[in-house]
Amino acid sequence: MPCLPAIVTLHVLLQVSGLPDRYALGDACLDGACAGTALMQVRMAQMGPKPEKEVAQAKDTGSPETEPTRRIMFLHIPKTAGTSFVADAMLMVPSSVAFLDNGELSLLGTPHFRNETRVVMLRNPLDHVLSQFLECKFDWWGKRVTAGTDFPFKPGVYGGLDEWVHHFTNLKNTSVLGFEPDSKEWARAVSHNCYNPWNMQSRYLASTWDHYVPFSELQPDIEAARKSLQGVQVVGVPELYVESLCLVHLETHGHLPKSCTCGQQGPLAQISTESHYVPNHTISDLPDNLLAEMAKLVQVDAQIYVDALNRFEAAVRLASDRTGIKMFCEDRLEQAWENANSLLRRLHLDKESELQRMWGHVHVEVVATAAKQPGDQSKHQS
Ligand SMILES: *[C@@H]1O[C@H](CO)[C@@H](O)[C@H](O)[C@H]1NC(C)=O
Ligand SMILES: *[C@@H]1O[C@H](CO)[C@@H](O)[C@H](O)[C@H]1NC(C)=O
Ligand SMILES: *[C@@H]1O[C@H](CO)[C@@H](O)[C@H](O)[C@H]1NC(C)=O
Repeated sequence: MPCLPAIVTLHVLLQVSGLPDRYALGDACLDGACAGTALMQVRMAQMGPKPEKEVAQAKDTGSPETEPTRRIMFLHIPKTAGTSFVADAMLMVPSSVAFLDNGELSLLGTPHFRNETRVVMLRNPLDHVLSQFLECKFDWWGKRVTAGTDFPFKPGVYGGLDEWVHHFTNLKNTSVLGFEPDSKEWARAVSHNCYNPWNMQSRYLASTWDHYVPFSELQPDIEAARKSLQGVQVVGVPELYVESLCLVHLETHGHLPKSCTCGQQGPLAQISTESHYVPNHTISDLPDNLLAEMAKLVQVDAQIYVDALNRFEAAVRLASDRTGIKMFCEDRLEQAWENANSLLRRLHLDKESELQRMWGHVHVEVVATAAKQPGDQSKHQS
């Protein structure tokens, strides 16, 4: 792994042990050899494979004279706060960094730059399903694409949700409107031209399907999704939005502002709140039997979300240790885990050893302290 340009002085060197292989640290810089840049190595699982498609010339937004020195490719999964996140990240990254939105394509369907850094947001799957329904129902885009379909428009915020969810849990391997279940036309038709909520997040990671999907791929290959996630350098969660933004700040600037301390506003004076014309909503308004039905749609996503939370938690804890800035409020992280675990319990997956919260089983040790020597970042005491 190449070391990135040194911007900050490292204060402590850490050794982490006990992480399972799929969270393996990219640790080339943890041995002190390039300690000045180790802050930027708060990256888990660098070993992930590159997607098949790698094109040198994807569309560029920068001006021709000022070639960006670094490109961040944001893998935009619909309804994961991506629109706000891209707007905020663009304001925040250094001018030499191009922060690119992949336009809601799947990871494998996205043209990639060489040496790009990948960023993704993954969300609690039950919130995600509700949010997809509301987008199709209330946003101008959703209203336009669903017009003329049998999307269940009913009064009230949640009206029609029950029918919409059951429509998807009852999908059959049979033709619809004359379209075969393995066709793109079928995929679009059963989704009311909008979204198919079956495991959308892992579908985005594991396949070339995006908004909708044919019958055969309703359950994406979880190992393929995990592998793809390993190839993503920064994993954020909208449940801890400011902290996720701070991880991108650290990745691109090499340091954290004080405002990334728990409870503070984060790197921007104001964050975007793009609501897509969707009214206030929360899954705690929904009856338990409906939540149980929604859970059936996200069996794979529930597991991928646990991976994402583990990645996120390890990254923010390491970043906090290294920068001395306590980035997260424990209670909000606890809440995210509680919600994730409650979903696992619904799916009877909560005892699976690979779906446990890793932190606490991981040992972090300070192995050296780097001397702060302005002008010479290569010398360190050991
Ligand atoms: C991209 O990566 C390749 C191979 O690791 C390296 O040779 C090249 O210098 C890198 N380019 C940039 C712009 O970092
Ligand atoms: C769907 O039906 C087709 C044809 O009957 C069959 O070949 C295919 O395996 C089925 N797919 C699934 C996922 O059950
Ligand atoms: C939505 O909720 C927020 C925070 O709970 C509140 O400030 C806002 O007024 C609510 N908006 C509507 C339209 O109810």
